[in-house]
Amino acid sequence: MNGKLLEFSLTDRLKWVAENYENVVFSSSFGQEDQVIAHEIWTHKLPIEIFTLDTGRLFQETYELMDKTKSRYKMEFKTYFPETEMVQNLVKEKGFNSFYESVENRKECCHIRKIIPLKKALKGAEVWITGLRAEQSDNRSNMNIWEWDEPNNVFKFNPLLDWTYDQMVVFIQENKIPDNILHRKNFISIGCAPCTRAIMEGEEPRAGRWSWEASKKECGLHSS
Ligand code: ADX
Ligand code: SF4
Repeated sequence: MNGKLLEFSLTDRLKWVAENYENVVFSSSFGQEDQVIAHEIWTHKLPIEIFTLDTGRLFQETYELMDKTKSRYKMEFKTYFPETEMVQNLVKEKGFNSFYESVENRKECCHIRKIIPLKKALKGAEVWITGLRAEQSDNRSNMNIWEWDEPNNVFKFNPLLDWTYDQMVVFIQENKIPDNILHRKNFISIGCAPCTRAIMEGEEPRAGRWSWEASKKECGLHSS
């Protein structure tokens, strides 16, 4: 499966999954990878639902890109939010910025704001498409284009896994795909505002995520 898929173009990878599986969904954080995949899905009118997880702590620039993307493609995506009561309890017990205090606290916030909404979004899905690329980190270099995701009981499809950063940027420019203006300010990987900073020369692409931590820098969506 993995070998065969790697021989296909991105368009053919997505067409193949749409033709062979039902209930195929794509999670977009509106990063550059995700914008490339969404462009393909919408341009080729593939029956793949696109959703995003709004943690409530995203950058204003990301919300601007969401609106811009909607008007460019005239297409819809679904937005999932965290459960109100869970956020209320977290903030009441630990304050608004508990993620800076420990990895445990940070994972708790990611769990409430991302993981639980993800489970809701994946309910009934047979295949979950992501924008993961192997180049992004050591952890991600071990992932496969097609894998079984045990925690969510779903096939996980990473159609951009073997794409390089340069390949992606050229594709975005050639197709005039809208992307986050923060990419022009040295932000590469963009998540929640309080947990993302711009990177400095020579730093890894994900160095700006939870930069105060020495962890694997994963929120739990993609536990390899
Ligand atoms: S994260 O786990 O560290 O946040 P990253 O930002 O690199 O992940 O994005 C990798 C992939 O995870 C994206 O291409 C997308 O498929 C999914 N993803 C991450 N964050 C979100 C989000 N807020 N909403 C939807 N999908 C997301
Ligand atoms: Fe919370 Fe930060 Fe995780 Fe966003 S990235 S869910 S703000 S800990």
